[in-house]
Amino acid sequence: YVNRPHLDFRGYCGTLEAGILRPGQRVKVLPSGKASTVARIVTFDGDLEVAYPGQAITVTLDDEIDISRGDWLVAEDAEVPLADAFEADIVWMHDTALEPGRLYDLKLATRDLAGKITRIDYQTDVNTLEHHAAERLALNAIGRCRVEVAGTLPVDDYRVSPGTGSFIVIDRMTNVTVGAGMVHRMLESEPPYEYRTHDSKAEVVWNRSSVTPEMRAHIKGHAGKCIWFTGLSGSGKSTLANALEVELNRRGYHTMLLDGDNIRHGLCKDLAMSEADRTENIRRVGEIAKLFADAGIIVITAFISPFRSDRAAARELFADGDFIEVHVDTPLAICEQRDPKGLYEKARQGKIKDFTGINSPYEVPEKAEVQVNTDTMTQEAIIAKLMKVL
Ligand code: ADX
Repeated sequence: YVNRPHLDFRGYCGTLEAGILRPGQRVKVLPSGKASTVARIVTFDGDLEVAYPGQAITVTLDDEIDISRGDWLVAEDAEVPLADAFEADIVWMHDTALEPGRLYDLKLATRDLAGKITRIDYQTDVNTLEHHAAERLALNAIGRCRVEVAGTLPVDDYRVSPGTGSFIVIDRMTNVTVGAGMVHRMLESEPPYEYRTHDSKAEVVWNRSSVTPEMRAHIKGHAGKCIWFTGLSGSGKSTLANALEVELNRRGYHTMLLDGDNIRHGLCKDLAMSEADRTENIRRVGEIAKLFADAGIIVITAFISPFRSDRAAARELFADGDFIEVHVDTPLAICEQRDPKGLYEKARQGKIKDFTGINSPYEVPEKAEVQVNTDTMTQEAIIAKLMKVL
């Protein structure tokens, strides 16, 4: 806890876990690694010349360095690795078995954070001490596990420092403590997140988010995706997109619908129908769709998106298989005959310029995942086809 009652006092409160601490001692902060010297060891009963393990103390430092709640102070020469994955022995304490891949809350020394047990290396038979393969850990089982947490932590070996090398596992739904663990050693982390590295004009860096798309998807029970409808005005994109969302929603999937006419009233109301504006329209829609998908949501878009390169750029934002292009291939003559908004008529009369299919091109997709035609297929058949692909 950072104690700052007034401007000229800044003390760091905590428990001395190991070793002996004296004023004048060099220390460093973890995880930042910044170093300083202990100025005072403050307690309610006056300053201490020396503090021992188990004592609750407040430390002030010589330098104004940045320390946050939950950080560790260790001897400057201490070698404590930082990692977001470690190996641990876990004792399971609940009727509901430990499930690898499931998200739990972990309480480890000064930190509360989300994490997963990604693998059970083996279970130990407590009678014979033999190791067995295990898919889960049932009540009272003990297993050697790989743990991944949503942040970088100092990792201490339980055998060297039991206080900082131990943790408990908490069920996120019930808040019940379901397991206890002893840290063994840090592990190299498997990169949880893909970073894009394209050049951008401004000096902006990518912030690494601790909660990954996988972790968000895990809570929702399914991963995010993008179903991208493309086709002429009046081809039936919006109707199909809407029907698909109804079907997904009915089955309990988390969805979001982005529709051209609606988005052009808000996010893209500054854009018209020139080629450049359409490109910008589709660029924004792609980025928004990607954000929704990263949030674990199945996002359905309905935009003419007439240019191949614009659709390809949107596709590029997604991992393989997460972008499903649906070409609503209703013939122009049928769209024009339907003319639900009377726009084709106006375009023919020359009242609208750059109208797709009339005086602005529509580039037919070459590799759409799905092709449908509202003229020859029923809506039911189309939705069934899409659900099958999904
Ligand atoms: S896109 O080309 O940028 O993908 P978007 O799907 O957002 O287009 O918007 C298309 C909708 O805008 C059409 O459904 C139609 O109602 C309306 N619209 C207005 N002017 C035009 C135009 N010149 N060409 C096509 N659609 C237009």
